[in-house]
Amino acid sequence: MTTLPYQDPSRPVEERVDDLLARLTLDEKAGQLTQYFYFGGFGELPEGVDVGALPPELRSFVEQPKGVEAALGHGGAGSLLFVRDPAIANRLQKLAIEGSRLGIPLIFGFDVIHGLRTILPAPIALAASWDPEVIEQGQAVAAREARAVGIHWTFAPMVDIARDPRWGRIIEGAGEDPFLGAAVCAAQVRGFQGDLGPESVLAGPKHYAGYGAAVGGRDYDDADISDSELWNVYFPPFKGGIDAGARNIMSAYMDLNGVPASGNRWLLTDVLRDELGFDGFVVSDANAVRSLETQHFARDLTDAAVRALDAGLDMEMCMSDAAYSRLPRAVADGLVDEATVDLAVRRVLRAKVELGVFEHPYVDESATAGVLARADHRDVAREAAEHTLVLLKNADAALPLDAARLGSIAVIGQLADSQRDLLGPWVFDHDATEAVSILQGIRDAATGAAVTFAPGAGIPPRLYASMFDRMDPSAVNTPGDYDDDAAIAEAVEAAAAADVAVVVIGQRQNQIGENASSAVLDLPGRQLEQLQRIVATGTPVVALVMSGRPLDLRWADAHVPAILQVWYPGTRGGEAVANALFGAVSPAGRLPFTWPRHVGHVPLYYNHYRTFQPDNQAKRYWEEPSTPLYVFGHGLSYAEFAYGNLRLDRDSIAVGETATVSVDVTNTSGRDADEVVQLYIHQRSGTSTRPVRELKGFARVVVKAGDTVTVSLPLGPGELRYWSAVTRGWLQDATTIDVFAGGSSAAGLATTLTVTA
Ligand code: NOJ
Repeated sequence: MTTLPYQDPSRPVEERVDDLLARLTLDEKAGQLTQYFYFGGFGELPEGVDVGALPPELRSFVEQPKGVEAALGHGGAGSLLFVRDPAIANRLQKLAIEGSRLGIPLIFGFDVIHGLRTILPAPIALAASWDPEVIEQGQAVAAREARAVGIHWTFAPMVDIARDPRWGRIIEGAGEDPFLGAAVCAAQVRGFQGDLGPESVLAGPKHYAGYGAAVGGRDYDDADISDSELWNVYFPPFKGGIDAGARNIMSAYMDLNGVPASGNRWLLTDVLRDELGFDGFVVSDANAVRSLETQHFARDLTDAAVRALDAGLDMEMCMSDAAYSRLPRAVADGLVDEATVDLAVRRVLRAKVELGVFEHPYVDESATAGVLARADHRDVAREAAEHTLVLLKNADAALPLDAARLGSIAVIGQLADSQRDLLGPWVFDHDATEAVSILQGIRDAATGAAVTFAPGAGIPPRLYASMFDRMDPSAVNTPGDYDDDAAIAEAVEAAAAADVAVVVIGQRQNQIGENASSAVLDLPGRQLEQLQRIVATGTPVVALVMSGRPLDLRWADAHVPAILQVWYPGTRGGEAVANALFGAVSPAGRLPFTWPRHVGHVPLYYNHYRTFQPDNQAKRYWEEPSTPLYVFGHGLSYAEFAYGNLRLDRDSIAVGETATVSVDVTNTSGRDADEVVQLYIHQRSGTSTRPVRELKGFARVVVKAGDTVTVSLPLGPGELRYWSAVTRGWLQDATTIDVFAGGSSAAGLATTLTVTA
């Protein structure tokens, strides 16, 4: 058999892509630009079910796989998503290769958000580690497991800035800050993509761009963002991922300033390609091309396809009836140039060639089992979880608990023994029975104490059921006939009888994530009342908060001595939490968002502008302080740290030059611990006003008891320039910069840097 140039791995990538592209018909090109969901892995229908009699939505779901398989038979798809079974992947791959004229393999994409089988802490928790290495290592594990089942590409990381915690997808991102967001995105991209070898997956930062600014925190609703905020706040995390080599970007659903993001040429081409330097391929969010019609932007599906492609959207992700299947006709009708189609196909083919799928299209089914949930993967998950815990409050050193001196511990809360909730949303291939719950973690660690458990207050289910619960037999919901009165009474009694009560409060995993926005930030159900009654017993209380967003903790902060934010800590979360509770680990995670007092304060973020009355910043509401409950970057430690000697290597720099800021951190306590050193700036005057504080550097360091560590960070054009609405471009001012260093965004230690023209 002769080898055609595109099949020859010894040839340069571009040559292979050119060769293959030249051989494709227009229909085949449209096929390469189409990605279908494939739901064929969800089991067969029970015998005797009459498909024709099913409700239309269910019927199309059941029939959808057949349509996809038919498309594969004639090169009608370039990629599939939601296939996570290696045998199914291989079967479909064979259909694609043998069915299409030129034998082009598929790439399989999937939402591998925080692990495939071994579940890492949720992304917002990973961000709270402020530890790029831990994040990179974690996502490398996720990539290895994904690749082992045949997945080539993950729809991650999600890097949308979230300033409104009502928005459920805050849990998928890195919070409110562009600098942290860029660093976390880059770390994830490095972890996923590695060397693009056989244990790597393509990464696709999403959702480009501005999706997190949905009005009212209501998922999918439109976003209105000024250009200044787009450039300075919303784009930088994408830039971080692009600079780290991300091969893919996913578009966003919503209208951005009146134009849907998925049909927005300024966004997808002018900014993404020309300004941010992206050279990979863009995929739409699910059915987002079709949605251009739904959103009354496009006239019909042909118009939607043409405008999305013209905007720079290369591949359409869809359920069925791809809008992009209309592209050949649109070219024939002169609605779009074939050259525009070619540009997109080239980008997709390049990714396939680079990934080596032409040489290795099939996954080794015999190797899969040896990779999933490997012991070393589970260790990475535990270590990651330990890094993410944020000690919000610790009055009188209530924590750590001394396991040896405790006779009894009451563990309270439905979330305490829920293996499923511990894993958080956006997991599909988990085995909940492999997860170590908080209750189990405490039992294993405190072997000398009598550990009692009471599930206590119910967590009322969602008013509108979660679309993900349907795919997840392990999802937990409090039953409708649950007897709250009796359960709370039992919990209070258990707490009263114990030496300490560990109360797990928060939201279930299906109460956060996509399609899981909240109108309020209250603890669901009667969890607060239960906490109040437990505190009233006089038993010392530790509150563990399981959530992916800030909740209303005003009462807890005022009355509970110790509060630990545990997020959704993943497969080995219970052990990590127990290690922190009993002091084997000192918590050192930091908040990646500002924690408001309650929902009426949102949006509330630290990097706001200085105003006409800055001295009254804390008094914006007449009835209560307008300050956060916990500031951005906050997190306590079992150790104590003193910051000093904040200095610059020079007092003055010219625009374009770089100064080095150094600060000494001394561990004044008797125990070793990690500390997250944070560097903030404020510009005193300039072409535009700048935020009161902006994070511009950080380092998570280990500081041994009694030791001093010096952290040095650069302040140069990368940190000091900004996009100004005055000049409509990037600039750096000659000005005075306040420089702050410390353990949170409230850092008190300050100096100044002069920047001259
Ligand atoms: C829709 C979500 O918005 C996106 O994040 C996800 O990757 C796709 N569905 C595919 O599941």
